[in-house]
Amino acid sequence: MKIAVAKGDGIGPEIMDAVINIFKANKVPLEYEFVDMGKWVFDKGFSNGMTPEAQKTIETLSILFKGPMETPKGKGVKSVNVTARKTWNTYANKRVFQTLHGVDTVFSKAGIPIDITIVRENIEDTYGGIEHMPTHDVALSRRFITRPGSLQVIKYAFEMAKKKGTKRITCGHKANIMKLTDGLFLDCFNEVAKEYPEIKSDDVIVDDLCMKLVTRPDTFDVVVLTNLQGDIVSDLCAGLVGGLGFAPSANIGDHISIFEAVHGTAPDIAGKNIANPTALLLSGIAMLRHLGLMENAAVIENALLFTLEQGKHTGDFGDKNIPSLNTTQFADAIIGNFGKTPAHGAKAVLPNMPATPTFFKLDHNAMMVSKEMEAEKIVGVDMFIESSEQPEEIAKKCQRHAGVKFNLINISNRGTQVWPTGSVYTNLVNEYNVRFESIDDYPLNQQDVLGLYVSLSGDFKICSSELLNMWGTKKAYSLAQGQ
Ligand code: NAI
Repeated sequence: MKIAVAKGDGIGPEIMDAVINIFKANKVPLEYEFVDMGKWVFDKGFSNGMTPEAQKTIETLSILFKGPMETPKGKGVKSVNVTARKTWNTYANKRVFQTLHGVDTVFSKAGIPIDITIVRENIEDTYGGIEHMPTHDVALSRRFITRPGSLQVIKYAFEMAKKKGTKRITCGHKANIMKLTDGLFLDCFNEVAKEYPEIKSDDVIVDDLCMKLVTRPDTFDVVVLTNLQGDIVSDLCAGLVGGLGFAPSANIGDHISIFEAVHGTAPDIAGKNIANPTALLLSGIAMLRHLGLMENAAVIENALLFTLEQGKHTGDFGDKNIPSLNTTQFADAIIGNFGKTPAHGAKAVLPNMPATPTFFKLDHNAMMVSKEMEAEKIVGVDMFIESSEQPEEIAKKCQRHAGVKFNLINISNRGTQVWPTGSVYTNLVNEYNVRFESIDDYPLNQQDVLGLYVSLSGDFKICSSELLNMWGTKKAYSLAQGQ
């Protein structure tokens, strides 16, 4: 089996060399094809941070094992890490956080065991980085939460939980505020949960979840979240088990999967051979299991756990009274412990499964569309306009453009209604949302909306507009605060 390997930037090459040396010493039956990705590839002018050859190799081999990569600042380029995850639809980001004996934390000292798996949606949310500044004062980000995208990751989380024998799976969300986006994610969770009655499923609002994770982390098992919330909560969990040096990450897709550490390039310690390779090694071990290399994974993981129990450590953790090892020495210590069994958390050494190349190649982009759709009609439009006038003056002008098909319903500013009712204590910025709805919910067509657009543009700069759709009897848009 051949996999693509990108060593990455900063400490990337040091920790990747350490991990590959461990794999080679354990005779892991893998071949490595090194590909060009990261900062120096950006510097050579490849705007997505990878060469076309690297992309081709990864798409052929289906597995990428990567070190951390730096995104050049201020050059307008996007993170190669995020580009890779999105381009290859690695929709589920799985991060396992476990108590490691030898890595002291508040919880390990208190005898509270932690074994939490965070499954984070990896493609959608605000990570598209689709941002605009409609006025000099206002920056907007588009947040995509889709039904097929949510179902995909939630189904993965339940399947994984079932295989792991998980008792509880929790959905973290903010559906009390973002009723349509987080609400959709939560609906998908509840829908999938019905197919797994044997697993206890529940949901927790994400702020409450954070509080509960730091007070009672032992009560959580698998937690599934949208992208940004999952990003934050998973770093919180990394802190619970000893920091980023112990946080592995698997980006799972149907065709291509990427294995990497959660941490970055650690430029402050790069080139010194002192970085902790544990997180990348744990990611590599997850990759071995993904590939069916169960025996290699268990022997290496047991050796790592044994080494940690011995008190051996790199400079970023462990007992300061025991001299720290450098990256190479730490890797050698693990190699020296092959065949040893740790006192805590020993992994069963199962035989390697025959390599089953389940990856299938695509020749066109897959379209994900929900099959059941309710009747759709346009019942209005939100016009986002630039103006520094008071709501009353804007309303007077807008009413002149409403014509015979539209009613001016309300005007809001940063989501808070300021007309027809509101408060003078609501501060304003120079972008308003002017909502027009059809008279008596009469179905509109796009020409009606365009007519209004053209008319309104005589008085205002229209920054953007959104159709107000109804699916059956359900409003597919949110109400303004106070509406
Ligand atoms: P960072 O994770 O690189 O470093 C944060 C702190 O943790 C530093 O003090 C560093 O020395 C320490 N640290 C991180 N990994 C360590 C290890 N294995 N052993 C010992 N100490 C370790 O985060 P930072 O400084 O915010 O980002 C640096 C660069 O990394 C940025 O260019 C960022 O874009 C990139 N980055 C890349 C990621 C990826 O490739 N997946 C993820 C996060 C950041």
